[in-house]
Amino acid sequence: MSPAGAVEERVQALLARMSLDQKIGQMTQPERLHVTPAEVKAYHIGSVLSGGGSCPADNRPSDWVAMNDAYWAASMEEDAGHLAIPILYGVDAVHGNANVRGATVFPHNIGLGAAGDPELLERAGRVTAREVLAAGVDWTFAPTLAVARDPRWGRTYESYSEDPGVVAGYAARIVRGLQGEGILACAKHWVGDGGTEAGVDQGDTVVDEEELRRVHMAPYSAAVEAGVPTVMASLSSWRGEKCHAHSYLIRDLLKGEMGFTGFVLSDWNGVDPLAAAYGEAAAMAVNAGIDMLMVPETWREVIAELKQQVKRGVVPIARIDDAVARILRVKFACGLFERPRPAARPASNGIGFGSREHRAVARDAVRKSLVLLKNEDGRLPLDKGARILVAGSAAHDRGRQCGGFTIEWQGVSGNAAIEGGTSMWEGIRAVAPQAVLWEGEGEISDARDFDVGVVIVGEQPYAEGLGDIRHPSPVRPGAHVSVAPGTLQPYGDTLEFAARHPEALRTIRELAARGIPVVTVLISGRPLVVNEELAASSAFVAAWLPGSEGAGVADVLFGHHPFNGRLPMSWPSEMPGVNGRVGTGGNGVLFPRGYGLRPD
Ligand code: GLC
Repeated sequence: MSPAGAVEERVQALLARMSLDQKIGQMTQPERLHVTPAEVKAYHIGSVLSGGGSCPADNRPSDWVAMNDAYWAASMEEDAGHLAIPILYGVDAVHGNANVRGATVFPHNIGLGAAGDPELLERAGRVTAREVLAAGVDWTFAPTLAVARDPRWGRTYESYSEDPGVVAGYAARIVRGLQGEGILACAKHWVGDGGTEAGVDQGDTVVDEEELRRVHMAPYSAAVEAGVPTVMASLSSWRGEKCHAHSYLIRDLLKGEMGFTGFVLSDWNGVDPLAAAYGEAAAMAVNAGIDMLMVPETWREVIAELKQQVKRGVVPIARIDDAVARILRVKFACGLFERPRPAARPASNGIGFGSREHRAVARDAVRKSLVLLKNEDGRLPLDKGARILVAGSAAHDRGRQCGGFTIEWQGVSGNAAIEGGTSMWEGIRAVAPQAVLWEGEGEISDARDFDVGVVIVGEQPYAEGLGDIRHPSPVRPGAHVSVAPGTLQPYGDTLEFAARHPEALRTIRELAARGIPVVTVLISGRPLVVNEELAASSAFVAAWLPGSEGAGVADVLFGHHPFNGRLPMSWPSEMPGVNGRVGTGGNGVLFPRGYGLRPD
């Protein structure tokens, strides 16, 4: 019998033994803060997750292993009322296992997109997987396969590129990297999350089916072909209809036409907005093809309501059986039934966690991600013997260089929470003995003391809708652009960096006015309007969100490694209009996708 046949036999045999309660429990995913191991057993829960920043005890790998071991043991305690089905624990290890203290934190996807190195993606995936396994975890909600089309979107940095072909080219590599080391990947968010009007997070993607297929679905074909076992539904809408209730998108296109045989997970409370009555909302999601419900706090209600919907015939038992079979098929096929308990696994508490070898891979990614946008008079590379003044709010801030989904959902500022790794200043100091860090207190000492200034500035960390750049009223008469009530408050209302962070331009101009040529390094989750900062700088580097290994920036600034990066997205010359988006027909583009200087 083929392995698939053997798996199928096990699936059907186990399914036949399951009660309705056990089936619905298997489809339910609470968040760790709202469910105990005892409840995992009592309600036959199939999965538990950590939301961004939801970390046990002292947030060390050993704390994660202990937590997962308790959930796993409860799920496997078979008795008359409970069947042993191993729990699946899921985390957002989206750029390394960056929730956990001391982890190797990779550049966010936009930087990996700039690197243009698919093999690097596979290496990054393997390192990430090892550091997820070290925490006793089996499943990451990655890769994000969004094709970001508007930098106003707060999740632009989670996208590899505005070009679907690039994202598709990366998809298989990152899936293979993650799964090759033994964790489950999750392609997200199905579908069109990066194409919403005006970049509004969880907004409405108003494109025809041809564009939806060509741009936003394309990367998923590669991921499905590479064997991605789970897909997460998008909180956005397509032409006014929520993806979470879209049977055509999920059942017909993803599962039917694309032949996806794994299971579809809802996103965080993605059920709630579907209908006023919770039971009706849950039924809509499940009938549309969602197999597992991410219901962090309301999991008890969902179980009760879904059971009622089945008893009333609103949700056919055949749909429940299909959903559970998909979940079991993934657990069997990925060997979860054969794995020992987390505390007994060789990879748990793995010695490679945050290791030099892992950090070397991340540092290589940083080097390859940097895009040189300007280099007047061959200012770069720098002479390591030069008298260098390093300034700027992001120069010595490991948290800021990591961005969102790091330790906390919204990321952190400062250095305390990011153990291991190097800030960009620490990387420069290690190379250039005459470099001085000026943290903006008091007057800059005499300009004659310095040959060059390196000003490192950037956005504060953010995640999801809190990173949106939203016009004060993106809603306009007759528009699809809707900002749902309660949508997270945006980061700001303009892509103009000087408007949001004027202190950066002040510093650049002050140094330049004192005759100190300035190399500006920008930390950002997206392309920004930086016309004034560019004009005042001799050289300008887009560094994206490089992660924990800031020294990789110094490797390139001093010429130990060449500039390699190319823009993964169009770089705007102006704030797009509410109707338009950067790059539409080339309007408002300062540098096209693919631009990047490579001084010989
Ligand atoms: C969030 C995000 C999703 C993430 C999930 C769990 O809302 O949309 O990308 O995986 O919740 O944290």
